[in-house]
Amino acid sequence: MSASIFDISGKVVAVTGAAGGIGMAVCRQLGSSGATIVMSDLNEGTLATGKAELEKMGIKVSSQVCDTRDEKSVIAYFDFIAKTYGQADILVNNAATGIHTPPQDTTLEEWNNVLAVSLTGYFLCAREFSKLLLKAKKPGALVNISSIAGSSAIGRGNFAYSTAKGGVNQFTRELAIEWAKSNIRVNAIQPCSVNTPGWRHWVETEGEEAKPLMDILLRGIPLGRVAEPEDIAAAVHFLASGAAAMITGSILPVDGGNLVYNAGGTLGSY
Ligand SMILES: NC(=O)c1ccc[n+]([C@@H]2O[C@H](COP(=O)([O-])OP(=O)(O)OC[C@H]3O[C@@H](n4cnc5c(N)ncnc54)[C@H](O)[C@@H]3O)[C@@H](O)[C@H]2O)c1
Repeated sequence: MSASIFDISGKVVAVTGAAGGIGMAVCRQLGSSGATIVMSDLNEGTLATGKAELEKMGIKVSSQVCDTRDEKSVIAYFDFIAKTYGQADILVNNAATGIHTPPQDTTLEEWNNVLAVSLTGYFLCAREFSKLLLKAKKPGALVNISSIAGSSAIGRGNFAYSTAKGGVNQFTRELAIEWAKSNIRVNAIQPCSVNTPGWRHWVETEGEEAKPLMDILLRGIPLGRVAEPEDIAAAVHFLASGAAAMITGSILPVDGGNLVYNAGGTLGSY
């Protein structure tokens, strides 16, 4: 095998939630490997800052403000892609949101918002992405950023987010089957905690509980650390490249062994 099976130069990559911690790492990794990046994010300010950073690195990049909850906004994003590039070869569905509210206190508005961003937004983007590829009769790769919360329960008021991520996993399997004959591969990544600004803020604002919370999180990760955004970006690169040509419908944990670790298990020999 040669390094060229990982070659993604010349590919057009659409990334949602691109201005966030993992989104930026994905843009840096794929962009510095020669792909053209079409960033999108709800936050105009951080999107502009992120785009400027990528341009400084010499990455070919454009950007569009897009709210993935909003059908019109998603259609406008992919209209821009169609007019500028014809189609995107790779879509990274990444924009998501969550709440930390006990189920009994959660409002319908909170629930609907989590599902709208973290599941319906993935559908809207995947639909528009596929239309352009199918019209052009080109192969493609969709990578959905899920979470270990999509396969296991976390507690601590994460139930709406976990439900959305469970949906993302099943959505990944179904789309993999729907589009296999058109060679549009669909896979998902399940990170454990990732060291992003948003995640750090959450851990820090747990106040006095921050240290125990960090201990709890680390105790569940056999490799002994949380993931870095670059760990997730590396897996996205793999799944988007020709190296993963035979992989579709997979849900890949990037979690230091978190999902396979039994709570009653032990690490090392004794
Ligand atoms: N950080 C973690 O610990 C962790 C763990 C597991 C999975 N994930 C997943 O990784 C992905 C990225 O997470 P992150 O940690 O980089 O988050 P982040 O908060 O750093 O970034 C999310 C980005 O999405 C944007 N966004 C929010 N709502 C949007 C909307 N409606 N439309 C468009 N953009 C919107 C935000 O502006 C932000 O730039 C998410 O799918 C998240 O569920 C993160």
